Amino acid sequence: MSKDWTPERGAAHCVAWPLVYDPPNRVFMVARRNMEPAAMMRVWINGHLYSERDAKISVFDHGLLYGDGVFEGIRAYNGRVFLLDEHLERLWNSAKAIALTIPLSREEMIQAVLDTCRANRVRDGYIRLVVTRGIGTLGLNPYHCTQAQVIIIAGTIQLYPAELYEQGMAVVTVGTHRNLPEAVNPRIKSLNYLNNVLAKIEAINSGVMECILLNAQGYVAEASGDNVFAVHGRTLVTPPTWCGALRGITRDAVMRLAVGLGYEVREDVMTRYDLYVADEVFLTGTAAEIIGVTTIDRRTIGDGRPGPVTRRLAGEFAAYARSTGTPIDPEPAPRRRRGAAAR
Ligand SMILES: Cc1ncc(COP(=O)(O)O)c(C=O)c1O
Repeated sequence: MSKDWTPERGAAHCVAWPLVYDPPNRVFMVARRNMEPAAMMRVWINGHLYSERDAKISVFDHGLLYGDGVFEGIRAYNGRVFLLDEHLERLWNSAKAIALTIPLSREEMIQAVLDTCRANRVRDGYIRLVVTRGIGTLGLNPYHCTQAQVIIIAGTIQLYPAELYEQGMAVVTVGTHRNLPEAVNPRIKSLNYLNNVLAKIEAINSGVMECILLNAQGYVAEASGDNVFAVHGRTLVTPPTWCGALRGITRDAVMRLAVGLGYEVREDVMTRYDLYVADEVFLTGTAAEIIGVTTIDRRTIGDGRPGPVTRRLAGEFAAYARSTGTPIDPEPAPRRRRGAAAR
């Protein structure tokens, strides 16, 4: 059977071919042998763009062997990368905390992110920036590794089904505690997400898509990949990072927006009780954006729908996200006024 598709041959010839995802158009297509490379996702690895098929790193990389590395998830909206400096600041801080040297300057990293977005024609999408410890031996010692490897993927993400943003989402608290800050500090956005994965498994096994993790003292920390807010009247409360929360960039943006809208915003220690009796609870995250919580451990929150504060903040956040960021395409040069050169 010929592997090259022509309209005359029909669809039956395609079934043996692998599916590839075309991020800008959000469609899957069949990978033809003669497929235009530009139609496939391209992944940036250490300064080069590879087709999705060829984007590979060593099986001896300690990012794979030990989860030794750091990452960021970043969104692009409306042709701009949202809060890129904040994400890079956190990436560099995470790397510093695990004694990992990122082999690029911040400016080089910004250019690499923008190049990857352009190569994939991403205007609205999701960027995954990964820095691994590099290739090492089978022992733990990170000082035996080659230099860190940098990977940038620019595609899309849909964390929860679209209808849940309208209807809200049921969550449960889980038995898996958030990592102890004195063991692996949850402020480090490391490649070791087993703590979060175990919690997510508990949630899914309970029939819901998301969970709230408590810390070892039983205080609310965060969701498996999102921060959590409780609304009481005109006050928003979110756990401080020392309770086991990542300092979310969406969390910070929402706090700033809420203060600007006249809400009182506090970081405070919370128990499950504080969530159960809240008027509203919502989660924030780069991938999740803002999503309302309708039940926690089968206790209905508010009237069981995303409340007015959640909806207002989600609307304000969407408008803010679409109006700011680092442009992916170079800004057009300002038009010269006619006759300006002569002067
Ligand atoms: C564990 C965890 N908490 C919270 C968040 C939300 O942080 P951000 O808003 O920066 O995406 C994330 C996602 O990055 C996360 O992985």
